[in-house]
Amino acid sequence: CGIIGYVGSHEAAPIIIDCLKKLEYRGYDSAGITILDEKIETHKTVGKIKELEQILPENLKGNIGIGHTRWATHGVPSTINSHPHNSGDISVVHNGIIENYLSIKEKLQQEGYNFLSDTDTEVIAHLMHSKLYGNVDSDEKICSFFDALQSTLQEVEGSYAITTVCGTEPDLMLAARKDSPLIMGLGESEYYAASDVTAFLNNTKDVVFVDDLNIVTIRPEGVEFFDIDGNVLEKEKTTIEWDIEAAEKAGYEHFMLKEINEQPRSVHDTFSGKLSELDGSVNLNELHLSNEEIRNIERIDIIACGTSLNAGLVGKYLFENLAGIHTDVDIGSEFRYSNPIMNEDILSIAITQSGETADTLAAIRSCRSYDCNTIAITNVVGSSITRDANSVLYTRAGPEIGVAATKTFTAQLTMLYILAIKFARAKGTMDINHAKDLLVNLKRIPGQIQKILNHRDEIRECAEMFAQEKDYFFVGRHLNYPIALEGALKLKEISYIHAEGFAGGELKHGPLALIEDGTPVVAIATKGHVYEKILSNIKEIKAREARVIAVANVDDTEIEKYVDWVLRVPATDELLSPLLSTVVLQLLAYYTALARGCSIDKPKNLAKSVTVE
Ligand code: G6P
Repeated sequence: CGIIGYVGSHEAAPIIIDCLKKLEYRGYDSAGITILDEKIETHKTVGKIKELEQILPENLKGNIGIGHTRWATHGVPSTINSHPHNSGDISVVHNGIIENYLSIKEKLQQEGYNFLSDTDTEVIAHLMHSKLYGNVDSDEKICSFFDALQSTLQEVEGSYAITTVCGTEPDLMLAARKDSPLIMGLGESEYYAASDVTAFLNNTKDVVFVDDLNIVTIRPEGVEFFDIDGNVLEKEKTTIEWDIEAAEKAGYEHFMLKEINEQPRSVHDTFSGKLSELDGSVNLNELHLSNEEIRNIERIDIIACGTSLNAGLVGKYLFENLAGIHTDVDIGSEFRYSNPIMNEDILSIAITQSGETADTLAAIRSCRSYDCNTIAITNVVGSSITRDANSVLYTRAGPEIGVAATKTFTAQLTMLYILAIKFARAKGTMDINHAKDLLVNLKRIPGQIQKILNHRDEIRECAEMFAQEKDYFFVGRHLNYPIALEGALKLKEISYIHAEGFAGGELKHGPLALIEDGTPVVAIATKGHVYEKILSNIKEIKAREARVIAVANVDDTEIEKYVDWVLRVPATDELLSPLLSTVVLQLLAYYTALARGCSIDKPKNLAKSVTVE
């Protein structure tokens, strides 16, 4: 989750510990350090940086070192899984995901490499060793440390920010990046490489942003940049103006805005390595259900609370539409005190970003007492829910600090799409071309989210117009109904405006009575089989003199005739549109709360994780 490297004239260990402490705000479960002084010396532990500090020997000397704080993605939090990972005299810390690590691991195991951890990172260390020394037993170099890293990077697929050192090249640290942040800090005859400027901002504000597929050599006498083919690159130095607090939020005013902006990456990371659009299949090795067992599922019961519940409601439409499996969605706190009708052919799916929500945990435990098969979808590796489910599917959103869930919600949706496609293919309810199309469109979602983020000023303008209202309504139909609920939930959580979400068809059964002259109503009106229906709802609402804000597709010219304001989303497959509409509603809530001067990251009376009843 956080990487650091130091090369300079001071003792590296205390500096690296200090830098790791600056990364503590990101959340982590373990930490480690390697110091290079003729040979490498590595120390790591589960827990806080203070605990790492306590186990470091006093005579840990050396001016070069690397460090890491880990937020588990592959393998539970443990000392063995924490970084650095070593192979012989090579030591590596890594952020990101190596997608093809299993095939590389098998190959290296056949060559005699012994893997200690469950991580994808350990393959980098052993692969570099095999390149540098030719085989597991040799200590005769057959190429340079730089060449070993370069050819390792040509073999791995996925994302990485790496810092690495090697005992046989004691004046050198190497760093590299692809799709995971890496920033060089240039001090006075000392150099830093980190995933986050906050790590070294107290020591230097002069930085170089490393680009994808760059390799950096860091020596006491200076830093050089290369492309993946080894050509020298010229880089511009930038001076960071942020203080530490602003830097933690990557310059954003709030963690929530930072996390909203991280969604292209978190959605991508969640599906990364899982989609084969060439044959319309998805790879979910973590799912312990055979195709036979999938075909025998009588019913799915999704259990969740809060925002995760809204993700579950989207999941219902997906499992029913794509896989033809009847799906119920239950609130954790209701389910645990009901007398559910369950049997071993029912699959329960718990959705919980924290993996610690007490009601969801209690509900899933009660499912197990009925011998149901259980799946947990969670963002926190090793959290309580992972011990109570037969299969655990991890979203890869990274730690979420803002109390109101944003990037974890879209990551949950992403995982539900993958699971529904998996079930549909296993059951034969979805033909291959439909699956291929859906997967291609899913891969486009991160870029489309980015387009929405690029136009956030328009959403801000709209939010400011309505920021002083007392009531706000959200309507949607079909898949957009849960998104209306989520839009209302986001707004009430952080802006304290009374907000409610409705299914369009329910308006005339009550909510219309509340709609008055000027009431803001958000209508999610993206193109799909219920588009005409939501248009009629909009007309009903307009007839009561409400002001309607539509979330509609970029190419929808008709909608403008009926509404007061249009917030645009790119066109995608109807089934995937919740992933885009949601982002608009998150930004609407955010800018409304900002205009009202609310405490956005920590709303009053709410907690990030509700671990008590
Ligand atoms: C709290 C948080 C919400 C979250 C809900 C469920 O209410 O404030 O953002 O959606 O808990 O949390 P979970 O960790 O189970 O997804």
